[in-house]
Amino acid sequence: MWVKGGVTLNGTVATSGAKNAALPIIFSSLLADGEHVFENVPDLLDIKSTRAILESLNCETHYENHTLTVRVSEPAEKLAHYDYVRKMRASVLCLGPLLARYGEAKVSLPGGCAIGSRPVNMHLEAMEALGSQVEIDQGYILASTGGKGLKGGPILFETATVGGTENAVMAAVLAEGETIIENAAKEPEVVDLCVYLRKMGAQITGHGTGVIRVEGVKSLIPSHHSIIPDRIEAGTLLIAGAITGGDVTVTNCQPEDLDPLVIKMKEAGFTIDAGKNSLRVHPLKQWKAVDITTSPHPGFPTDLQAQYMALMTQAEGTSLITESVFENRFMHVQELTRMNADITPKTRVAVVRGKKNALVGAPVMATDLRASACLVLAGLVADGETVVNRIYHLDRGYEKLEDKLKSLGAQIKRLSE
Ligand code: EPU
Repeated sequence: MWVKGGVTLNGTVATSGAKNAALPIIFSSLLADGEHVFENVPDLLDIKSTRAILESLNCETHYENHTLTVRVSEPAEKLAHYDYVRKMRASVLCLGPLLARYGEAKVSLPGGCAIGSRPVNMHLEAMEALGSQVEIDQGYILASTGGKGLKGGPILFETATVGGTENAVMAAVLAEGETIIENAAKEPEVVDLCVYLRKMGAQITGHGTGVIRVEGVKSLIPSHHSIIPDRIEAGTLLIAGAITGGDVTVTNCQPEDLDPLVIKMKEAGFTIDAGKNSLRVHPLKQWKAVDITTSPHPGFPTDLQAQYMALMTQAEGTSLITESVFENRFMHVQELTRMNADITPKTRVAVVRGKKNALVGAPVMATDLRASACLVLAGLVADGETVVNRIYHLDRGYEKLEDKLKSLGAQIKRLSE
């Protein structure tokens, strides 16, 4: 992606549907045979990967105008092959639904990842707590209830896990009896999944809090759902306006989901107006450095840490950016440094010494989805031209980011896939 820095962004831009809500919701369709219809599904590589895996599980899918139809029928093999899981770790989200539905599943174990080792031990412990045997064989998770089906039970997560909570809820909805999930993830994406499961007939309460209760039912029926807006994309676009000193309104978002970011940006000096479904950042020439520490919702989202760091490179003063969710999520620091940013990374903390107009365009390499977004944001204010390589990372989670930024006036161009 080619970006020429120095243009002030202005205008209105709409958020797409949330990737991290769409993925578990689409996988949850495996819980009920028949036709599921999902609206506001973003056009992303990860959605293509999800369709491919569902098709390998005997589903038919059709995607048009952001509406995805999934027609589910029983697969011969309850298998998520390595070829799919290696492309997208979130494929492990078919474990809970397959196990709940058929009492058995064989799912490739996801590998390491650019932002940390990201084990799935808590997903597996949750399946065991619901009465499944779980073993690892030749890189695959083999889970089986031995023909007995899942049984509800208590699940206590050692730390809040988004995917672990999603797999646990999807398994529990068809388990016999009650499941109480403690230290459950509270992210809006987990809530949206529960909303869809309830539309299918699941009995769930407490979603959005740390304790989710599920009373298992015998079967579910397919339904319709519109995916919530992507709070991380909305936050990225808001920062794009802010970093260029522009006046940008982000529409089709749920402002309350962005509170952790908005609070920090206001502390830095920005004026931000929240409408019913929109956020507007007003122009500001100089903002203050403000520290953040990422943590599970409602804390500052790790998925906005890299983008926020780009904003802090332009702040007055020094900020401490602490990453407490993932162990290795500072890969963008090296690249920002190549653009002349003054950042000292330590194990979990980056010390960012801000200076207005200090960034200089350079060829840089994207290492993961959010790091790519951070580099594009840095490119918007750097002196000269920046080329962000490996933007397939960006396409996994941002729908046509360059078109959205261009509509606000940015000089940005896709050079290749
Ligand atoms: N963890 C374990 N064991 C587990 C599960 C998680 O040790 O069994 C650890 C992870 O390694 C991490 C922490 O727990 O250190 C939290 O991980 P979590 O399970 O919450 O993350 P996830 O479900 O794998 C989702 C999003 C991520 C987002 C995180 C945190 C999806 C598809 N992915 O991942 O999104 O960063 O929650 O909010 O929902 C992104 O969109 O760029 C992205 C990486």
